[in-house]
Amino acid sequence: MIVCVCRAVSDRQIRSSLREGAQTMSQLRADLGVTTCCGKCGPRVRELLDEHRADEARSVGSLACACAAA
Ligand code: FES
Repeated sequence: MIVCVCRAVSDRQIRSSLREGAQTMSQLRADLGVTTCCGKCGPRVRELLDEHRADEARSVGSLACACAAA
């Protein structure tokens, strides 16, 4: 689904950029051009960034050594 109409950027492209290492709104802006025109896509881009961060935090938590919980 297109998230940024002005730059024709989809949620898949944003997720791909996040998987490839983008970690901030500024990096997504530089990589894809999101939020650089009207800015209406900003809230949805932020949601995708927050979802990605939450997923990363969960995966890091699941890799934690069981010794730490003992
Ligand atoms: S919708 Fe993304 S800058 Fe306009």
